[in-house]
Amino acid sequence: MLEVENLHCTLGTNEILRGISFTVAGGEIVTVIGKSGMGKTTLLRVLCGLENISHGKVCINRKKACHGDYGLVQQGCCLFGHMTVLKNVSYALQAVKKFSAQKAKAMALDMLTQFGLKDKITAYPNSLSGGQKQRVAIARTLVMDPQVLLFDEPTSALDPEMTNDVVSMVKNIASQGIAVLIVTHDLAMSRKISNRVLFLECGKIAENRPTEEFFLDPHSAQAKSFLKNMALF
Ligand SMILES: Nc1ncnc2c1ncn2[C@@H]1O[C@H](COP(=O)(O)OP(=O)(O)OP(=O)(O)O)[C@@H](O)[C@H]1O
Ligand SMILES: [Mg+2]
Repeated sequence: MLEVENLHCTLGTNEILRGISFTVAGGEIVTVIGKSGMGKTTLLRVLCGLENISHGKVCINRKKACHGDYGLVQQGCCLFGHMTVLKNVSYALQAVKKFSAQKAKAMALDMLTQFGLKDKITAYPNSLSGGQKQRVAIARTLVMDPQVLLFDEPTSALDPEMTNDVVSMVKNIASQGIAVLIVTHDLAMSRKISNRVLFLECGKIAENRPTEEFFLDPHSAQAKSFLKNMALF
């Protein structure tokens, strides 16, 4: 269970997050939506420790969160281009978790096999399709055994079929008890995948509602206009 309480973040002179509170239970999938520049990526970066919290509290399973609790799948995957697929997935197990090369390799192979990528382990990222890259990125994050999985725009470069692949993959991951938070502009995907929606407006949560309720009957004027612009309301 991820619990975020009154989170504030200031970057430069701008207060980007202005008192954000929400929870994501283990097994739950929550999507964060909102206009560009509202602080969605900043929220993920703050949770992962890539930006400092100016004020507020984050707990995972009732304890103060530490960075190793999170797995972040960043926008555009960010695979290491000079490493094979296998090395991309095994690298942090050795470098961060200090597992032996043999153990790291075996764990990476197992994870990649689960993701249907066994035949790609010796390939380099530039020879993979967008969907395959996304799967490697998810495998690389998941192999670190995070309590909370964060995604920034996981389907932005994918066609509808690959998007559906990612949706079922993420649902499967959540069903193992992991809390999942997804930032996305893909509202159809948000609707398919999430139990709840957080609508972010100017660094604050304007709505935190069950997904279908939100899409069928947004309460705030900002959400109504956002969905109208996306031709969804
Ligand atoms: N390092 C930084 N220093 C100062 N301001 C920043 C920094 N990083 C981001 N910002 C500002 O913070 C605001 C929120 O940015 P963020 O990337 O979180 O938006 P977003 O909701 O993810 O947008 P998008 O939907 O376009 O990805 C923006 O106005 C951005 O210019
Ligand atoms: Mg963003």
